[in-house]
Amino acid sequence: GTPSLHEVYQDYFLVGAAVNPITLKSQQELIIKHFNSITAENEMKFERLHPEENRFTFDHSDKMMSFAKEHGKKVRGHTLVWHNQTPDWFFTDEEGNLVDRETLLKRMETHISTVMGRYKGQIYSWDVVNEAVSDSGEDLLRDSKWLNIIGEDFIDKAFEYAHKADPEAALFYNDYNESDPEKREKIYTLVKGLVDRKVPIHGIGLQAHWNLTKPSYDNIRQAIERYASLGLQIHITEMDVSVFDSEDKRIDVVEQTDEMKEAQAERYQHFFELLREYSDVITSVTFWGAADDYTWLSNFPVRGRKNWPFVFDENHEPKLSFWKIVDFD
Ligand code: XIL
Repeated sequence: GTPSLHEVYQDYFLVGAAVNPITLKSQQELIIKHFNSITAENEMKFERLHPEENRFTFDHSDKMMSFAKEHGKKVRGHTLVWHNQTPDWFFTDEEGNLVDRETLLKRMETHISTVMGRYKGQIYSWDVVNEAVSDSGEDLLRDSKWLNIIGEDFIDKAFEYAHKADPEAALFYNDYNESDPEKREKIYTLVKGLVDRKVPIHGIGLQAHWNLTKPSYDNIRQAIERYASLGLQIHITEMDVSVFDSEDKRIDVVEQTDEMKEAQAERYQHFFELLREYSDVITSVTFWGAADDYTWLSNFPVRGRKNWPFVFDENHEPKLSFWKIVDFD
């Protein structure tokens, strides 16, 4: 039979999957068997939970929490402060003008305390701030309304409010291109500042949207070691391994070739070898989905191009990539 992925990894780290209201049904059996942690792909984002100032919509996230409880799954929270998927009302007043720093801080605190408060004690870790670092250039932080209205300390404040709302939850800074040396140093600088200022932060999330050629194993290793040197835990938060390389922009590929399957399996094998090696600091590894019948990559970065980034295929059967990550000793 097929071994359970999370059982194979029980001495290493939690194994998670991102879910949404559809996959929670269509992939239910697979999720129950192979994963011991779940994350909402979208349903805990600002726009979903808090569409208007005085209205919170917890329907879908509550359902996911009940599923987790019923099946004994842990939950990773994603995400509280992000430049994307945050509604306009949050930054503006009734006339449509940008609000001032004090107003925005107050709104941010209300959002964080309401959302985290509702699930207090039930979510083991939260991505408090997502993708705040700029990808290139001199600037440390990306341009955003959070930054422009509040100033650089919007990040400190978010962590402080989060810690107050649920003192037990492990609080994470989460980002992509996290293994790129230039961005790695910026993330390191940002988080080191937080640690030095005694801001309550407990971990760094590596999104791990990886592909056939990037990042290199060395760059991943260096990123893990650099982040771990801050004395924080590490989570892999959104792992998927595209069957294309970074330069491949073809949109007409309708089926995975054997070559793609083998190349991906080799990548997965080495990625997991590396993650196991660092399991003293890596406490959780979450895939950004569960099986190839649904992935956000089928629209990103190339619109309309299918992708097959997981270790289970469209019929929820284990792929070569699965066997390469469970066969080790
Ligand atoms: C993606 C979801 O998968 C999509 O369904 C949605 O349309 C956009 O967001 N980094 C993150 C995730 O932190 O929240 C993103 O999720 C993928 C990139």
